[in-house]
Amino acid sequence: MKPVKKAVFPVGGMGTRFLPATKSMPKEMLPIVDKPLIQYAVEEARAAGINEIIFVTGRGKSAIEDHFDHSYELEDMLAKKNKNDILEQLAQILPDEGSISYIRQQEPLGLGHAIYCARHIVGDEPFAVLLADDLVRADRPCLKQMLDLYYERGGNVVAVEEVPHEKTSSYGILDVASREDKIIEIKGMVEKPKPEDAPSNLSIIGRYILQPEIFDHLAKKQLGAGNEIQLTDAMAKMLGDSPFHGYLFEGERFDCGDKTGFILANLAFAMERPEMCEGIKNYIHKNKLLI
Ligand code: G1P
Repeated sequence: MKPVKKAVFPVGGMGTRFLPATKSMPKEMLPIVDKPLIQYAVEEARAAGINEIIFVTGRGKSAIEDHFDHSYELEDMLAKKNKNDILEQLAQILPDEGSISYIRQQEPLGLGHAIYCARHIVGDEPFAVLLADDLVRADRPCLKQMLDLYYERGGNVVAVEEVPHEKTSSYGILDVASREDKIIEIKGMVEKPKPEDAPSNLSIIGRYILQPEIFDHLAKKQLGAGNEIQLTDAMAKMLGDSPFHGYLFEGERFDCGDKTGFILANLAFAMERPEMCEGIKNYIHKNKLLI
């Protein structure tokens, strides 16, 4: 079984749901407390042992490149002020030299197309995909949980969670062949079905481990839901050729592409900070925000 060494991060999206905040700032740079979403996703990949990072980016996204690079003026200023703890934090963001690649997705043709753009850098090996919008708080990083399953069973793995039935039209939804505890054998998947057409309420969340054959299917550039080239449609074509599992991960997922999910993620992560927790609790009590 080939090891998974590369992770693809599609970061070309326009972030229209967060306008005006995202007019001149990539949505992936929106912070949860004090760390941008994209940094959480990259840290999750690294915690799972994946250090080769591929960003599929687009126009107006250079802040992401700058974030994962030196900022000499800032570092110089911090050094002169002896702010060594912050300097240390910044140093940890930096990748090993040459381990991040950037490719431009020239047109926003869908998630499947974004992944297709990474095909030459990924090459003929399995790879992970992480969508930074989906932030997972977990003791064991979500991608690590999935890799453990991959190294046991091989093939392809997607992270899965149950969603309310009326929300199926926001997700890729699984058609389940069988289920043993957290592991789901998949027999079909549909991108954003209406609740009445959905085969289940098990949704794919933004974590994937995929075999390189996915690129053969993506190359056909078939349009799916929303008239976009969908990753879910290409994955559905791989079913039957190699193992394909859904994994009901342990942890809590926040949909940070949605304003409410974004605020909830900020609240949850802020409450873990001893220096912030009291102030937030006091505000909630004082303003009777708990009904
Ligand atoms: C994408 C995928 C969808 C998946 C979702 C998870 O949709 O196309 O299958 O369920 O991410 O967040 P998007 O949120 O980009 O519309």
